[in-house]
Amino acid sequence: MKSKSSTNLLAMTGGLLLVSAIIAIGMRFVLGEITVPPLHYLERKFTIDYDRNVFLMDSKPFRYVSGSFHYFRAVPEVWRDRLRTMRACGLNAVDTYIEWSLHNPKDGEYTFEGIADVERFIKIAEEEGLYVILRPGPYICAERDNGGLPHWLFTKYPGIKPRTSDTNYTSEVAIWYGNIMKRMQKYLYGRGGPIIMVQVENEYGSFDACDKNYLNWLRDETNKYVRSDAVLFTTDIPNDRISCGKIDDVFATTDFGLERAQEIDDVWSTLRSVQPNGPLVNSEFYPGWLTHWQEPNERRDATAVAEALRNILTYGANVNIYMFFGGTNFEFTAGANDWGFGNYTPDITSYDYDAVMDEAGDVTPKYMKVREVLQDYMIMPNLEVPEKSQKTAYGSIQLKPMGDVLSATGIEALSTKKVIAKMPMSFEELDQYSGLVLYETVLPKLEIDPTLLTVNKLHDRALIYVDGMFLGTLSRQNKIYSLPLNAGSEGAKLQILVENQGRINFNIANDTKGILGPVTLQKLNGSTIELFDWSSNSLPLESEQIQKFLDIQKKSGKCSEQQGILLNGPVVLYGELTIETDPTDTYLDTDGWGKGVAYINGFNLGRYWPLVGPQITMYVPGPILRKGVNEIVFLEYQKTSPDLRIKFSDVARLDA
Ligand SMILES: *[C@@H]1O[C@H](CO)[C@@H](O)[C@H](O)[C@H]1NC(C)=O
Repeated sequence: MKSKSSTNLLAMTGGLLLVSAIIAIGMRFVLGEITVPPLHYLERKFTIDYDRNVFLMDSKPFRYVSGSFHYFRAVPEVWRDRLRTMRACGLNAVDTYIEWSLHNPKDGEYTFEGIADVERFIKIAEEEGLYVILRPGPYICAERDNGGLPHWLFTKYPGIKPRTSDTNYTSEVAIWYGNIMKRMQKYLYGRGGPIIMVQVENEYGSFDACDKNYLNWLRDETNKYVRSDAVLFTTDIPNDRISCGKIDDVFATTDFGLERAQEIDDVWSTLRSVQPNGPLVNSEFYPGWLTHWQEPNERRDATAVAEALRNILTYGANVNIYMFFGGTNFEFTAGANDWGFGNYTPDITSYDYDAVMDEAGDVTPKYMKVREVLQDYMIMPNLEVPEKSQKTAYGSIQLKPMGDVLSATGIEALSTKKVIAKMPMSFEELDQYSGLVLYETVLPKLEIDPTLLTVNKLHDRALIYVDGMFLGTLSRQNKIYSLPLNAGSEGAKLQILVENQGRINFNIANDTKGILGPVTLQKLNGSTIELFDWSSNSLPLESEQIQKFLDIQKKSGKCSEQQGILLNGPVVLYGELTIETDPTDTYLDTDGWGKGVAYINGFNLGRYWPLVGPQITMYVPGPILRKGVNEIVFLEYQKTSPDLRIKFSDVARLDA
């Protein structure tokens, strides 16, 4: 179509818009005579061609090979470097979840700053030449606490049924989407942004509820914000439950790793059973795997990964590599799994995942092999493979035991709430995200000697003390729920210090935390008596309370006498690392210590547990360190190392 003059053009419907659109997309434009392209060129649109089994970007066939990188698993200072390394491998998109609990940690409270600045992440991705695949959940699994659902949902609605049509759940999702999806709208492809795909739910087929009304509702709720500006999709495991995850009018994709890739035709035909045509997509191709505490680190062979990737691409399929860069579960964000009935297993702090890039964001041999494959399928950017970042072995430093958590000052400084009631209160009843709850009551006269103390519904791990002396540990993970008490302790103080080791993330089933049922003692006649009148004390172990405790202890000059096995409860230790030059990444080696939480300059690095491994080192991002004095704090639950020293090294140890 040609137009003789600009006046004529302006007279056309939407003339002004058209002119600016033409300029915006860089069409040639000659004064006095404007060439107007066919209208469909002007439309920025990401769609699906179901007949040709391809995506269309602005009407042209398009394939993506993307990589998962969750912004909440790396400090924002490194986002650009990580994204550029991904692009340099040949990826043309990045895939991220949005974590509801991060942005909305308390009812009515929102945060979008620092590590929660998801908009900045999307902008940087676009600047680095990557499209964005957005997975807002709101349930995300992701090996994150509660699969990303905020704990306060369970405080506000004790009987809530997440991921169903329960109106208590859907009304809260609607409020959250009203916030987050409104922020996302301007980044949608159809509105000029990089987001081409938006996921609805997450592996819903695997969830027992199979509630189609809920899925339809969530589709409509998502669509309120997305409309035709990006493609809505679902992701489901390729098994006989895949139809439970399928939503009418939403594009279906599947996910699989090396094992299923060996029977790839079966996998595609499972996907075809719910969606006879359209592009093939593996939304989670696993180059590694997640790891639990007390189990071997999961590794996947690089050559096998590259071969499987090539195989998938030969089908013309689109792929998202999950994880391309895993990062770290800082603070208490790691989740847990329960894949067999009652087999609770918490996830480690590292999310290295044996991914294509390692936990520190460095390229690996797997990266080089994946890049070789992508060179055959993708238009490679003009980017060199980045050098590995510098790591420094800062050496060992001395820690000093500053005080006991169970001392009167310890409890006072660390406690944020104390409730006295007949029954023990759960973390959720206390509106507590993570950390510890200290339960206390007074022991009655014991009828038999010894007598078994039982905490049947324990989530997840309890250190037991009588009159301040450590008796032993109960563990949901190891299915140990009882231990013997000796008679003669009538009137003694019973303390049960319960650790939340991470809420279940896969197939979540209201994994609330704390003591969730009766605490009982054996009687002579074989029956039991229940203990009542508990005080429940919230110890969320956030940096703020740890700092308060340290300030009090420093002022009073008092410290802890405890060393070795901690018979009087957890200890807070403090040390200083002085760095002379600009800080780099390093690894905190926890070898010789027991189980606890590490903080540097008020940044919670997460849980450590070298006693069971396999993770021994904790990744320390350079940006949290500073030139000069760095404050190191350990909150050790069980056992100090013989010399009270910790070491900063330049290599990761995740396979112990
Ligand atoms: C929603 O939660 C409230 C508070 O727990 C409860 O009283 C109500 O019955 C719940 N509603 C539904 C539909 O379950």
